[in-house]
Parts: sequence; C-alpha cells; structure tokens
Amino acid sequence: MDMKRYRGHLAAPNPIDHRNDSVSRVAERKSGFITMKIMGILCACLMILSVLITFSAIYRETSSGGVSGFAEARSVEMKAKEGNVVRESAEAGDFKMQAEKVPGSEDVSSRKIDSPKHFGGLLAAGFDEASCLSRYQSFLYRKALPHKPSSYLLYRLRKYEALHKRCGPYTTSYNKTLEQLKSSHTNDPLECNYIVWISFSGLGNRILTLASAFLYALLTNRVLLVDRGTDMTDLFCEPFPETSWLLPMDFPLHQFDSFDQKSPYCYGNMLKNNAINNSTGSLPPFLYLHLVHDYGDYDKLFFCDQDQTLLRKVPWLIMKTDNYFVPSLFLVPSFAKQLSHLFPEKETVFHHLGRYLFHPSNPVWGLITRYYHAYLEKADERVGLQIRIFDIGTGPFQHVLDQILACTLKEKLLPEVNVKESIIRPSANKRSKAVLMTSLSAGYFEKIRNMYWEHQTVNGEVIAVYQPSHEEHQQTQKKMHNLKAWAEMYLLSLTDVLVTSSWSTFGYVAQGLGGLKPWILYKPENRTAPYPPCRRAMSMEPCFHAPPFYDCKAKKGIDTGALVPHVKHCEDMSWGLKLVNHDEL
Ligand SMILES: *[C@@H]1O[C@H](CO)[C@@H](O)[C@H](O)[C@H]1NC(C)=O
Ligand SMILES: *[C@@H]1O[C@H](CO)[C@@H](O)[C@H](O)[C@H]1NC(C)=O
Ligand SMILES: *[C@@H]1O[C@H](CO)[C@@H](O)[C@H](O)[C@H]1NC(C)=O
Ligand SMILES: *[C@@H]1O[C@H](CO)[C@@H](O)[C@H](O)[C@H]1NC(C)=O
Repeated sequence: MDMKRYRGHLAAPNPIDHRNDSVSRVAERKSGFITMKIMGILCACLMILSVLITFSAIYRETSSGGVSGFAEARSVEMKAKEGNVVRESAEAGDFKMQAEKVPGSEDVSSRKIDSPKHFGGLLAAGFDEASCLSRYQSFLYRKALPHKPSSYLLYRLRKYEALHKRCGPYTTSYNKTLEQLKSSHTNDPLECNYIVWISFSGLGNRILTLASAFLYALLTNRVLLVDRGTDMTDLFCEPFPETSWLLPMDFPLHQFDSFDQKSPYCYGNMLKNNAINNSTGSLPPFLYLHLVHDYGDYDKLFFCDQDQTLLRKVPWLIMKTDNYFVPSLFLVPSFAKQLSHLFPEKETVFHHLGRYLFHPSNPVWGLITRYYHAYLEKADERVGLQIRIFDIGTGPFQHVLDQILACTLKEKLLPEVNVKESIIRPSANKRSKAVLMTSLSAGYFEKIRNMYWEHQTVNGEVIAVYQPSHEEHQQTQKKMHNLKAWAEMYLLSLTDVLVTSSWSTFGYVAQGLGGLKPWILYKPENRTAPYPPCRRAMSMEPCFHAPPFYDCKAKKGIDTGALVPHVKHCEDMSWGLKLVNHDEL
C-alpha cells in the first residue's frame, strides 16, 4: 500500500463539530516518511487475536413489533418505584450482574452493585445520589439491551476506581508525582502515572475523545485527569467514586491552548528533532501528545508499540485530540489482547464506556427528563432524526429534505401520507410515533411536521414531530447551548429508531449511548440528494475520522482498514475506521 494514496484521503475536509459549521480543511503535511529509528517488534498477537474473539450476544434489531413491547415495559418501569416492580419485571434479568469471579477481584468488587440501576454492575456504588440524579435514574428511561459488559471490564473498572482514588488530586501519590513535574526530568518509577485530557473542540467530539483517553488510561494503568475547559463541570457528573477526575486548578501546566505540534514537549516534534529515543538517559517528566486531526506522521507513531514502550516511562502525558481514536488502539499488538478480553463484543466499546463515564449533571438531566415526559413518553415508538449539514451552511435545503424523506419512507421508519385525498377516513390504527428532530435549522422540522399535519398517513399512524432547539449556527463556547446540545444527544439516545447524518459526532454519541445501529444519511455532494439516501450502520461504534495508515513493523504505508476483521472503513467516511462485530456482517 502506498502512503500517498492515504495522504490524498487525509487531505479531504475533516469534520469537526466545531465553530460555525465551518469544516477545517487540512492539507496533510508532506513530511516524508524518512527512516524511523525504531526497532520493529514482531507481533503475532494480531493473528492470535482473530482466533480469540468470541461473540456472546447478538444485537437485537429494534423491529416495530419489539418496540411497542419495549415501550410498554418502559412505561411500567417509569411508574415503578426504583428497584421495586422493576426488579420483578421480565427485563430485570437483563440487568443481573454477571458472576464477578475474576481472580484477585475480591478487594474491589465487594460493593453491592447488582441492581438494575447500576446497569449490570457497570456503575459503582458509593455516590451521593442527589448530587447526580441521572446516574441512578437513567435506567428508568433506557430499554434493556442484550449488550452486557464483560466481567473482565467490570473487574478493570473497579480496579481503576481504586487506582484513581489512591492517585487522585492532592493524594500523597499525586503530590509526589507532581514533584517530578517540577523537576526537569524523571528518574524513579512512580506508583501513579497520569494522562491529562485537554478540553478541545465541539461537545460531540469531546465526549468521544474523553472516552478514548479513558480507555487508553485503562490499558496503560494511568489515572485520567480532565481539564475542565469552560463547561465540563456544568455538563457532567464525576464518574469515579470518592475522588475527582478534574485536573486541579493549581496544576502547574495550564496554557493548554498554546500546546500544538510545534511545542517543545510535543512527542512527535521531539522524535522528529531526534530529541528523544529509547537510549535517552533521562526522559522528560511530561510529554504532550498531539492527536488532533491535523497531526503529522511523527505524532501518529503514538499508535506503534515501540513508542508505547517509551511513553510508559513518562509519568505525565498531556493529550489533545478531537478524534475517537479507539479503533487504532485495537491495532496496537500490546493492547489487542487486553481489548479482546475487555470487549468480547467489539462494537460495544463506546456503548459501555459512554454509559459508564457520561452522566448528565442535574441541570442537564432536568432538560432531558422534562422534555421526555412532555413529548416522547406516551408515544408507541420514538424516532430520532439527527440532521447535520457540513460545508454549505445550515439551510434548510430542498435536497436535504428530499433525502431525509427518501430515507425514512424507503426504510419504512415513517409512514407515507395520502396527498391526493383530503377526506378523513376512520382508522383502527391508533399507533403513535413521536419524531425527535435535532438540527441547527428549524426548516426541516417545519416541513416534516406540516406534512403530517396537512395530510393523513396511509396507515393511519399518528405522527408528532418535535424539535427542542434550533440555534442556526453552532456556538461552541456558549454555556446554555452546550447544556442543550448534551440534552439533545441524550434524548436521541432514548429513541427506538435513529437516523443520523454522515460525519456527525453528535450522532455517534447518541447511537453509542443508546445502543442503536442508526440509518446513516449519506453526505450530499454537489447539492443533490444521494442515492441511495441512507444505509444501516454496520455497528453502533463511532468512526475514527483521521486514523494513521502506517505499518509500524514494516515501516511503510498500509491500509489499516483491512488488517483485522473487526476494524473496517466507516460507512460515512471511506478513509475512517470503526469497530464492528465481524461475525454479523
Ligand atoms: C525501546 O526498547 C525496547 C526494549 O527495551 C524495545 O522493545 C523497543 O522497540 C525500543 N523502542 C524504540 C523506539 O527503539
Ligand atoms: C498535597 O499537597 C497539597 C498542597 O500542595 C496539600 O494541601 C495536601 O495536603 C497534600 N496532600 C497530602 C496527602 O499530603
Ligand atoms: C538519542 O537521543 C539523544 C538525545 O536525547 C541523542 O543525543 C542521541 O543521538 C539519540 N540516539 C540515537 C541512536 O539516535
Ligand atoms: C455538479 O453539478 C453540476 C450540474 O448539475 C455539474 O455541471 C458539475 O459537473 C457537478 N460537479 C461535480 C463535482 O460533480
């Protein structure tokens, strides 16, 4: 495989849900791939890996028949007092914690967390419930899904929580590691090592990158600390019990905005300048990892085992990224085996980590629950339509409306209307669908709502169309805007059927949290509705928009979407990578 081919791909516009719909165009830097001073590690793990994979559960399609069943079960749950009726319902079994007999886990798994509200043991006990209502109420709004976290994942999460508590802000270990940061180099191995996540880019991207950074922390036994940016504390609850994931305000490094590819402590930059290697006597106490979509070939060496060996010795890693880089972690041989144990079902990585990490703050939870009860609760089925247009402004555009209707009608997600007759024929069908639309423009919503107001549906179904907000353009920095954006992503994740736009991280978050395989609207080119208008996603995983195309061992370009069956190119971006359960394709 020729690197140039992929360079061409990467020079394409890169979608980031970021300021005013403008899409950054990135000219991939032409820094040639000169000989890397890296020893290749031979790894047979990749081959072994594909044999190791087993799949236990099969994604349950949300057929229209099943949906009303879910809806009924859910409204029963809504009325039920927590852990009372619910525990006895047929679905409660789905939440039952798996036997958690992982060797050595006794110390961390002793807490009682087998109730439905802990999502099959995914969520730890030990929180003040009033401080974060969503953590313990969300199960009332979510349908039971067949995807269960593996007992190994649960074991590692409990272990991580213990580590975070021991190493969290202002603990003895934290103070000690901080001392190293103040000195100019690092020497002794330390008990606690850290990864600092920099708050960067739009909200959808941030949710995806934080999940990626957390998985990296799990894999490398690091403690994840979160730069609070302008609004992180307004949006999310603390995910780990009896400690904090927030980077202390008095952390000595802070001007994160100025960190970039050219920073003196940027790992890729140091490699390029020959300032760091294996034999470097004393490594710096921290390194900056630039994993933003405009990153260069040296930055991309982050995804090589040899480099991970070196990074392991550095106590503080500071990471800036706007991409869901998890798929490429599955291609790092030293991580692959752990990952296959953590996630026997490959497409559930963001699903489980997202539900584990991202609990809406009380103000956001208020936005979500009030909206849900007012508009969505009573419908027999909920349909989410997430519309995001890149490149050409917010619209509304006729070709986009045509595409939405072509997709939803063709795939029978919404019923056709009878445009010829205005006679009202009595219908026995009293089924109702609530359509939740999210878009920066109100135009599509008004057109679709009016269509179902002005005409009767051919099957008699009653269609109600709602859109919580329309901000006309994305305002990344505004506080209320982001609270509402988070609430909308979450509400979309509570639907039964989801339609999303290509390239949109907003849609990825909704589908992952909801455990939904969406219908993806293809990106319109040249202002015409594409045909076919949409397709069903292969998996509920987000797409990594800017993956590396490099074979660390052979030191040449390679198609990383063709190496293993569970890492494929995305439906909505031909050069992107995503995880799939390959036995279901
Ligand atoms: C660094 O050394 C380790 C062994 O100590 C080796 O596995 C790795 O490949 C080396 N990395 C580089 C970048 O040379
Ligand atoms: C760590 O340092 C902070 C101030 O730098 C101090 O307030 C705190 O007590 C220290 N923690 C421990 C456990 O000594
Ligand atoms: C390793 O890095 C040091 C600087 O830390 C440099 O002086 C040395 O030449 C490098 N070694 C190799 C083999 O490139
Ligand atoms: C876009 O459409 C116009 C007219 O429909 C056509 O002339 C033009 O070649 C198209 N451009 C591309 C890039 O397909």
